[in-house]
Amino acid sequence: MTRGETVYSNFCITCHLPNGKGVAKIFPPLAKSDYLMTKRRASIKAIKYGQSGEIIVNGQKYNNVMSPLGLEDDEIADVMNYITNSWGNSNDKLITESEVSKIEP
Ligand code: HEC
Repeated sequence: MTRGETVYSNFCITCHLPNGKGVAKIFPPLAKSDYLMTKRRASIKAIKYGQSGEIIVNGQKYNNVMSPLGLEDDEIADVMNYITNSWGNSNDKLITESEVSKIEP
């Protein structure tokens, strides 16, 4: 969680903001995001390889681009554990480095 918070501050905060709420219609929220909390694989994939094209988060359409951030698998696991357990989110099935390593583009 602590390592994940550092990754978040360094790589994610500029778009998804300190409170995880993002910017409506431009940067989707992570706080209480149905996408993040129900599409675990797709969320990891988005962080690992980038995400573009239309997605729907909490009923709102987003069609923007998130570039891959160049993170290592362990950093992706850490940041996933941070964002899925912050701002009211709660996930007791922790993401591991090995789970991230198995996700392909
Ligand atoms: C340059 C801005 C930017 C940065 C930096 C960024 N994102 Fe994103 N993120 C986006 C955009 C834009 C989308 C939606 C892309 C689309 O419309 O397909 C997105 C989508 C997502 C999603 C899936 C949708 C959701 O809201 O649940 C997750 C999860 C996510 N980002 C996590 C992260 C994490 C973790 C980091 C840091 C490691 C990060 N992002 C850094 C802009 C950014």
